Amino acid sequence: MEWTRERRYRRLEEVSQEELFELERRVNHSLWRQTFHIQPKTGLLNDPNGFSYFNGEYHLFYQWFPLGPVHGLKYWYHVKSKDLVNWEDAGIGIKPGDYFDSHGAYSGSAIEHEGKLYLLYTGNTRDNDWGRNPYQCLAVMNREGEISKLPPVISEVPEGYTDHFRDPKIWKKDDQFFMVIGAQRSNETGCIVLYQSNDLLSWSFKGEMKTELPPFGYMWECPDYFELGDRGILVFSPQGIAPDGDLYQNIYQSGYLIGNPLDVENGLFSHGKFQELDRGFDFYAPQTMEDQKGRRILVGWVGLPEIDYPTDADGWAHCLSLPRELTEKNGKLLQNPVKELQELRKNEKGIEDILQDEGESYVGFTGTTYELTTEFQNHDAKTFGIEFRTGKNEKTIITYDTIEKKLVLDRTHSGISFATSYGTVRKCALDSKKIKLQMFVDVSSVEIFVNDGEEVFTSRIFPSQESQGIRFFATGGKVSFQAKKWELQTNQ
Ligand code: FRU
Repeated sequence: MEWTRERRYRRLEEVSQEELFELERRVNHSLWRQTFHIQPKTGLLNDPNGFSYFNGEYHLFYQWFPLGPVHGLKYWYHVKSKDLVNWEDAGIGIKPGDYFDSHGAYSGSAIEHEGKLYLLYTGNTRDNDWGRNPYQCLAVMNREGEISKLPPVISEVPEGYTDHFRDPKIWKKDDQFFMVIGAQRSNETGCIVLYQSNDLLSWSFKGEMKTELPPFGYMWECPDYFELGDRGILVFSPQGIAPDGDLYQNIYQSGYLIGNPLDVENGLFSHGKFQELDRGFDFYAPQTMEDQKGRRILVGWVGLPEIDYPTDADGWAHCLSLPRELTEKNGKLLQNPVKELQELRKNEKGIEDILQDEGESYVGFTGTTYELTTEFQNHDAKTFGIEFRTGKNEKTIITYDTIEKKLVLDRTHSGISFATSYGTVRKCALDSKKIKLQMFVDVSSVEIFVNDGEEVFTSRIFPSQESQGIRFFATGGKVSFQAKKWELQTNQ
């Protein structure tokens, strides 16, 4: 089927029940449905939005095009949870269709104010020539979960910027609200602008956030500013960054700058170098929130724009990442899966062994959905690591190369291949005697947390259902390791 503009911008109400049932039937037959990740019931999911804690629950929305695996008329879909693990379906959150969001309710964020949850998002509109006209829009959710739209709060793009102007992220400091918006300057370089408000309704433009980066890509999407202790952190997703050695290998990047707290009066932000948040193949447009326990938690889109995925054929695409707790250490963000995920652990298996120029599989160490933690140490091997989701001609491999001092994720033989023009191997420098891997394997994804959150590799993989093996290996010497594995009890 061809995804013409008409098909991409059909409203859900225009679609017959039969067509929706047929789409659901196709999705439900998909071999790649996840079991412990948030995924769309049909169609395409992209950015996490409105991530917040309100009225005793975590709320998370995501960009959703219901009718197929393409980017079209975007809704906000709403899920909520008491524990960040078990998510309840709360239905459509924001429906596009007003004059200010006629062509999509694009990304945005949430903040609690006077007993209500305020949702700020970008209304995408298109004129007759298909030119964009972005509005920054406001909707309010009450304690009953009812969401109503208010008039837009910003209807004009300020002078000096193009119509690529979107993704408001709000925070509060000393009774004042601030908002960053992803933007493109008229000279087609990416940047972030800053607004201020004392009531969330009327906003004043404070100018550009002045970073110390040289021109860095043509558009910065999904900015997020927050503070951890005495550090200011700016997360954003720049587009148009060329690959550089092992860095910036994906079509678009997401990363952060750490520095002194933002000087909100002058928009000044002094910081260290841009660092990628994730070193895997599929990660973009993350958003953070601070929860009632004071934790800073990040969720990302496990997917990328403009890439075809194997699930497209089944009428759906993408999922969200597991929630990660962020902490700061020596100018770097550490990312660890939230503790609550341990609730899912079932049927623990353990093993300790020494491998010398060999590969070994162990009883109970197999599966398609599990958590696997491994600590490797005392090594003189050239390489060591884990092959997983192995089967006939299939394996995904995480290897530590002790000569190059790099961790390498290889999905060349993971199963159905896709996006191969961006390469099938990702490498990340890591100089460490001990290598600790915490892996979450779901039906069609893997998230690998390295050395207590120093690095993360997030990737989709599409092995066959029968490929369930796990094999630990060493080449050119020996390595000792301890591993634990849990089946993960699913919530869907
Ligand atoms: C990032 C993004 C955002 C935009 C949204 C639309 O993936 O392009 O900039 O708001 O997706 O779905």
